[in-house]
Amino acid sequence: MAESLESLKARLAAHGQEHVLRFWQELDEAGRARLLGELATIDLDWLARVFASRIESVRPEEITPYREVIREDDPGGAEALRVGEEALRAGRVATLLVAGGQGTRLGFDGPKGAFPIGAVSGKTLYQLHAERLVALGRRYGRTPLLFLMTSDANHEATVAQLEGARHYGLPPEDVLIFQQGLAPAVDEQGKLLLEAKDRLVRAPNGNGGLFKALEDSGALARMRALGIDALSYIQVDNPLAQSCDPRYVGYHLLRGSDYSCKAIRKVGPKERVGNYARVRGRLQIVEYTEIPDALAEQVDEHGELLYLYSNPGLFLWSLPFLEAQAARRDLPFHKAHKKIPHLDAEGRLVQPSAPCGYKLEAFAMDTLADAERSLVLACSRDAEFAPVKNASGVDSPESARALQTKLYASWIKAAGGVIYDPSAPIEVSPLHALDAAELRERLPARFEVRGPTYLA
Ligand code: UTP
Repeated sequence: MAESLESLKARLAAHGQEHVLRFWQELDEAGRARLLGELATIDLDWLARVFASRIESVRPEEITPYREVIREDDPGGAEALRVGEEALRAGRVATLLVAGGQGTRLGFDGPKGAFPIGAVSGKTLYQLHAERLVALGRRYGRTPLLFLMTSDANHEATVAQLEGARHYGLPPEDVLIFQQGLAPAVDEQGKLLLEAKDRLVRAPNGNGGLFKALEDSGALARMRALGIDALSYIQVDNPLAQSCDPRYVGYHLLRGSDYSCKAIRKVGPKERVGNYARVRGRLQIVEYTEIPDALAEQVDEHGELLYLYSNPGLFLWSLPFLEAQAARRDLPFHKAHKKIPHLDAEGRLVQPSAPCGYKLEAFAMDTLADAERSLVLACSRDAEFAPVKNASGVDSPESARALQTKLYASWIKAAGGVIYDPSAPIEVSPLHALDAAELRERLPARFEVRGPTYLA
């Protein structure tokens, strides 16, 4: 039953949030219903707790190195590959593509997944991720399901994009597009902000919102029903992400892992990335800001950094782990200090020039410390990581396209091809080859790159 206005007013007053009804008298029926609907979704006790909470920063003396990273030359790789391939053939693996972020740094008008990124083809991020799954389906006889998480800001556009493209060749019934939740934004005193007289400022609740959203959307029930017990997490803004990588899946299953992580070598001790480390003995991802220089620079007896590996956002989760996280109501929320456009007390829209409030976000990676069994597998940065975060410069479309060219040039050279024009962009479609070995089988005996090259 809908809450009465009186009871809502009392609830708001008890939390010092009654100002959100400031413009009530000016609203028509639809506006009132809308605002009431939004307020009904907000747990004010939770909001007060999150605002008052502090995510404890890690103390340097609690941090120790994590030395069990499985290296790329690990002798167990062949067996892991065999087990992973078997799991793919049995349909035990699905992909979770998270695409609910707002993409503010990229500044693209549309879902980030619709951004054209193919170095030569100009294919979108969504298309590249989907085609990898189509190619895996051809190789293993079972196409991994795609769970795609969007948010309020881009859900409809994403659905339209995928439907318009006929799901890039994926069976439509194997694509589940679902929305993550929203969290209200607050000012520096913890007061709810209004975006319009009948609307709160709300933003996606961080990629940690995925656990609950998987449950609410029926994705977990579907996994259970279909016997899918490994979920491959990738982020939409990494065009080189290798979802459902069979060797990785094999390690994950062989070790009975709940939470597996890929790791890439840092370019230097102080690279601004999340580091794999132990905190009070448990594996975690520790932000570079929390690792003092003296620790970050420590090396072992071979001169190798003790904190050598960072997180490219490529995880594998077991079904029981996902179910346990979905049932949690106490996920830690981070307060991101941001410039948040909002209405002032007179109802005028303020476009702040400095951060003035907080967006509340949970991070999927924070749950790593909860996993009873985890593993970290080293992978090649060049082969799997080309993030598209900024409009230009570091981690931009330009750098991601250059990284594609670098990777595919290395495949062509390994297959005996010759590159005469090192400035030519190169792209290999996942539908042509998923890896260097497959390309070697397909490449003609004398293959030369003399200009932009696309192997479709
Ligand atoms: P980021 O936080 O790096 O990027 O998200 P963003 O939110 O897309 O862009 P900015 O920070 O506004 O510039 C990393 C991954 O997590 C997803 C993003 O879509 C991206 O794949 N994400 C982020 C969500 O799915 N939901 C969120 O609430 C936040």
